[in-house]
Amino acid sequence: MQAGEKNYKRYTVTSALPYANGPIHIGHLAGVYVPADIYVRFLRMTGEDVIFIGGSDEHGVPITIKARQQGISPQEIVDKYHGIIKKSFEDFGISFDIYSRTSNKIHHETASEFFRKMYDAGQFIEKTTEQYYDEDTGHFLADRYITGICPVCGYDQAYGDQCEKCGSSLNATDLINPKSVLSGNKPVMKETKHWYLPLDQYESWLQEWILEGHKDDWKTNVYGQCKSWIDQGLQPRAVTRDLDWGVKVPIEGADGKVLYVWFDAPIGYISATKELTPDWEKYWKDPETRLIHFIGKDNIVFHCIIFPAMLKGEGTYIMPENVPAFEFMNLENDKISTSRNWAVWLHEYLEEFPGKQDVLRFVLTSNAPETKDNDFTWKDFQAKNNNELVAIFGNFVNRTLVLTEKYFSSVVPPQGTLDDLDNATLEEMKQIPGRIADSLHHFRFREGLAAMMNLARLGNKYLTENEPWKVFAVDPGRVGTVLNISLQICAQLSIVAEPFLPFTSARIRKMLGLPEYIWKDATLLNWLRAGHQLAKPELLFEKIDDKTIETQVQKLLDTRKGNADADIQPHFIAAQASDISPALPEIQYDDFIKLDIRAGTILEAEIVPKTDKLLKLKVDTGLDQRTIVSGIAQYFKPEDLIGKRVTILVNLAPRKLRGIESQGMILTAENPDGKLYFITPDEGTVNGATVK
Ligand code: MF3
Ligand code: ZN
Repeated sequence: MQAGEKNYKRYTVTSALPYANGPIHIGHLAGVYVPADIYVRFLRMTGEDVIFIGGSDEHGVPITIKARQQGISPQEIVDKYHGIIKKSFEDFGISFDIYSRTSNKIHHETASEFFRKMYDAGQFIEKTTEQYYDEDTGHFLADRYITGICPVCGYDQAYGDQCEKCGSSLNATDLINPKSVLSGNKPVMKETKHWYLPLDQYESWLQEWILEGHKDDWKTNVYGQCKSWIDQGLQPRAVTRDLDWGVKVPIEGADGKVLYVWFDAPIGYISATKELTPDWEKYWKDPETRLIHFIGKDNIVFHCIIFPAMLKGEGTYIMPENVPAFEFMNLENDKISTSRNWAVWLHEYLEEFPGKQDVLRFVLTSNAPETKDNDFTWKDFQAKNNNELVAIFGNFVNRTLVLTEKYFSSVVPPQGTLDDLDNATLEEMKQIPGRIADSLHHFRFREGLAAMMNLARLGNKYLTENEPWKVFAVDPGRVGTVLNISLQICAQLSIVAEPFLPFTSARIRKMLGLPEYIWKDATLLNWLRAGHQLAKPELLFEKIDDKTIETQVQKLLDTRKGNADADIQPHFIAAQASDISPALPEIQYDDFIKLDIRAGTILEAEIVPKTDKLLKLKVDTGLDQRTIVSGIAQYFKPEDLIGKRVTILVNLAPRKLRGIESQGMILTAENPDGKLYFITPDEGTVNGATVK
């Protein structure tokens, strides 16, 4: 127990239930599941009674829309993605005690009962209001079934519950120029009855519980969001919808209505616990249980305000003790997006980097978006693998085992007389588990990981300073001592690395022939006795080469290009600063205006015979039609170029290439990797328009 904190007997740790409408990507892992898993693995090792709850969120409008688009049922959609998601979590070692799903019978029952109990106690407000209705299809349009112009920022694809451009939370009736997603038509207003959770009535309780009670122990980003919601004043919120997919509203006169997905989903944590154990109540109702929700920042209001208000209203449940929400992980400087396929999907990663789950866990933890959004780049992934996992962690363990094999046939040598460096090293080793524990208790995962890496650094330094490979010839007994201590460091690494790198930890344990330890054992310092036989050393990590990384970057570049063609908002990968060619010397304006650059169109294109680089183009410059020979054949197919808008330098002195006179130059942009792109004039420009 932490000093000054109240007594507790057990932990219930939940992680946000991902929507089963797509696979999961590194952003999910970084922001929720890896930190939750590290936390839970650590708690289990400390002997705590802890359950780790996960599952798929299988209701909500996006799932029904996806099903409609694909002409299959929502159940088929969620069956497919639930399977994919569950497998990804297993593959990455996310150690749920149960991974459930909200389309389960037990969940429907639990959520219905929960609603019914609140309903019977008069905890909802019943209200009939006018809502948008699609007369062609006979649907009420809420949430994602309706789009229109955002009243806040003017974005024209805002949804009925939220504008994804400016992040404003909206009601369907706020949208300007609303349109039904189903028919594309303008909806009409029609009366419908719904049940509202009167959040305003919970305001003073929330103020006291969060704003006064958790000022110091909740993360500032979480506390800040809660404060701003509460300060703005809370409004009653509808917890039912007109929809035929979800948990049916369990009362008379509610045909065709289901619970709002954000009402049923968090109850999914409770249903999953029921499914896990008949003794579920102690994990949810005993005040000596600590309830911790791991979520992404977009889920804060639901887990800190709405769900707690529901739990409070129902009356028999405990409140979350902490809600360590993470910020977002971006990918190559751009927001991860499923619709733009701007993501690294876990199932694809595993195909391309088989066996390297821990490398991704390591990179995502060391860059964890704990306090601000962070960025995943492939270059950084490579650097962290090569410079830290391979060069420090792996190198230390491997050197120790290989030297022990070489000098002592893989039998642990005895620890002889200790010198000052040995004693200082052992002293330092004693401190490390406590530092990691302190970081993890406070949800500081990057700091905990850094403390673990410091142990590997300590080992490397110890070996390097003792130079056993030089000493052996003169003093083999001393080398025995050095390797004994180095092997103890390896053993300690296998223990403290378990929460972060579970696969690696197990491999070290196997090589050392050690059992699974509990956290308290991490300070023993004598895990390996002299005479103990070790297994053959194997490499823990391997270098990732430039080519592998280029393949991944190219994959993203192709996605971006595909998106640009499909007119999905373009975005740019930031090249490494060192890859960008250096700036040229300054010129004067007069130098620049000598260039006559025009917007034009390619009319014809053909390969110049017997070359593989040159294309002969006929272009319309607005001034004339002329021939230009351009060295771009490796990047563009002639047939793709007909009609392409380009910018052309038209007053370049003509020159002959392969006997053809070239009368100008097509301008291109060249990426650091050498790939060429056209500078395409915006729509609306005419051929001959001048470029300045
Ligand atoms: N499905 C939601 C999301 O992906 C998270 C639901 S968390 C729950 O944003 F607890 F409410 F289920
Ligand atoms: Zn907006």
